[in-house]
Amino acid sequence: MFPTSLVGAAILFSILSHDLAVAKVVVTSDIPCRPFHEIYPSGKELCEKMWDGSFVYETNRSRAYTMWFFDKDNPNDEVTQNLGLSPPALCHLRYLHKDTPGPEPDTFAECHPWKKRSCCTEVTVNSVQKLKESYGPEWHWDRCGPLSPACERFFIQEACFYECEPNAGLFRKYPDSDYNASDPSHNQWQMSGMPIWSDYCDAWHRACRNDQFCAHDDGNFFSCAAIYEEVQTMDGGTVVGIVFGCLVIVALIGFLGFLVFRERTGQPVFKPLEQQAS
Ligand SMILES: *[C@@H]1O[C@H](CO)[C@@H](O)[C@H](O)[C@H]1NC(C)=O
Ligand SMILES: *[C@@H]1O[C@H](CO)[C@@H](O)[C@H](O)[C@H]1NC(C)=O
Repeated sequence: MFPTSLVGAAILFSILSHDLAVAKVVVTSDIPCRPFHEIYPSGKELCEKMWDGSFVYETNRSRAYTMWFFDKDNPNDEVTQNLGLSPPALCHLRYLHKDTPGPEPDTFAECHPWKKRSCCTEVTVNSVQKLKESYGPEWHWDRCGPLSPACERFFIQEACFYECEPNAGLFRKYPDSDYNASDPSHNQWQMSGMPIWSDYCDAWHRACRNDQFCAHDDGNFFSCAAIYEEVQTMDGGTVVGIVFGCLVIVALIGFLGFLVFRERTGQPVFKPLEQQAS
């Protein structure tokens, strides 16, 4: 009897672990999705809110960076000079970045503007898929369904800009002067307050107008990524609880069956006291 209940438990467990995978899918599609134009009133909110303060909307072109360019030389170097700074000799951001900016080989195509001098290596940015998947499933920009090519193009540009643009390293949220490696709230990957050309933000807003995006916390992509993790772990815990509960029930049923079986075959497990003594 007991081995039978073990088999039952194993079957139940496999069914429930399959359910766990299904639950994940449900959770992902459970995020509040709305069209861009309902989430962000304009390009300003898109650039500032979506990236949790990493960027600010700047209308003065000579003080504003662009996330993409066709010029032979990177126009963002001049912006840095206009801000009274120098283009950095090191890649200060730390995610997949190189230590120092430098040239990339002829096969470097997806993030081509930075081919001459980049903080990214070709292997980390060689396809749209790679750029989208570098940061984990919670950061996929198409969590509310596939984006139109026009809209997705801006997310690809932003990803290239973040990984490849040396000047982005000047806007670390915790610059080297403040960064404390033993403080868990500090990191070397986050940006803050980098001025982005307003026309660029407005174009992004036009391109994505009717596409769907995560509307949680007024469209803050960082908060949206955070709830993805929260929901997932909570969900995993619940399922583990259910599985454990079911195992206990199956074991009890098995044990009861065993008792009945012994009783029927005339060998009860629990005999009256007088019978046991004789
Ligand atoms: C734009 O920024 C430049 C560089 O900082 C400055 O010299 C210029 O006065 C600014 N223009 C306006 C209209 O504010
Ligand atoms: C760095 O962070 C740790 C942990 O939060 C803290 O104990 C320490 O005082 C900090 N050091 C400085 C220089 O702020």
